[in-house]
Amino acid sequence: MNRLVYDIPFNRPGLAGPEFEYMQKAVSNGHLSGNGDFTKKCQVLLENELSVVRALLTSSCTHALEMAAILLNIQPGDEVIVPSFTFVSTINAFVLRGARPIFIDIRPDALNLDEAKLEQAITPRTKAIVPVHYAGVGCEMEAILEIASRHGVAIVEDNAHGLFGRYKGRYLGTFGCLATQSFHETKNFQCGEGGALLINNVQHVERAEIIREKGTNRSRFFRGQVDKYTWIDIGSSYLLSDLSAAFLYAQLEARYEIQTRRQRVWTLYNDALSGWASTYGVRMPFVPAYCDQPYHMFYLLMPSLEARQALIAHLKAHGIMGVFHYLALHLSDMGRQFGGERGDCPVTEDISDRLLRLPFYNDLNAADQTRVIEAILSFQV
Ligand SMILES: Cc1ncc(COP(=O)(O)O)c(C=O)c1O
Repeated sequence: MNRLVYDIPFNRPGLAGPEFEYMQKAVSNGHLSGNGDFTKKCQVLLENELSVVRALLTSSCTHALEMAAILLNIQPGDEVIVPSFTFVSTINAFVLRGARPIFIDIRPDALNLDEAKLEQAITPRTKAIVPVHYAGVGCEMEAILEIASRHGVAIVEDNAHGLFGRYKGRYLGTFGCLATQSFHETKNFQCGEGGALLINNVQHVERAEIIREKGTNRSRFFRGQVDKYTWIDIGSSYLLSDLSAAFLYAQLEARYEIQTRRQRVWTLYNDALSGWASTYGVRMPFVPAYCDQPYHMFYLLMPSLEARQALIAHLKAHGIMGVFHYLALHLSDMGRQFGGERGDCPVTEDISDRLLRLPFYNDLNAADQTRVIEAILSFQV
């Protein structure tokens, strides 16, 4: 998709203010690779704000998920349960270790993994459940935790969308033994490409540091705990450069301001479009009363695939980029190799044809947002 043909893109990564000043500081610190001062500042901020045992910045959410799969010792033949309505990395990270994906359907309201379908998908081979908090709206974590603990299965929350979202007052990312965040340019807080692994179980901390440092105990060496470092486990290069962490720190410091702006954007879409939506049978985002969402996304569920495609074309004619989202993973080429068939996840199959996301970024100004709203209001479904 060529962004240049749109005057209002779907996403425009913005600046909070001091990004370049902090990057300059990283340069004068003389430490641009991973685990420098800005990496530590971001990690401490996340640990304090979320009250997680440890936060480790990574080069992406995908890499944080790969680390989670290694930490859980996923082996060939193990099964991992995921919603079919998600990004490939949610499951690819586990498939890379030899796991078999077990796709389950989503709830039609919040579009999150349907906890009522979970128990029947668990077998003696199940090693992990990976709930995805779609749009940062919390999955039904009470039920998911109860089922997982009864079967002794680990939970890894894919919280790519949901930093600072809450479920029943508790931050997303603090329920599973592990959770992952994304700082990709499309997220509320970003540094181009980046992520984090959140660790809620102390037993994973030391090994996670080793895996992130190419399988070496280099972090212990830098802390003066060993006099040389060496290869002690499998691992890879999962560190975020401190240059990117410096950029990210500026964004995380501005978290309240960024969230306030995004709340304003989300609320304006919601207020301005609800009458039009009810006239034409378009469904708006659903957020349960006990979930505090982080205002990551605004989507419309159109009545049909044809109506969704027509609205995308209508917006394009107005210079506005509206985009669809995940295609059902169980019906992808890879998903079919694992036995996925049409009809396995009917809600996912239906929703993925009808969902449309509207332009949503930190610097979306009122005039541009009004143009998006007016274009939609002039569209007859
Ligand atoms: C649910 C989900 N998980 C994981 C990812 C991967 O994130 P990253 O690009 O940081 O690897 C994405 C990407 O947007 C996502 O939507």
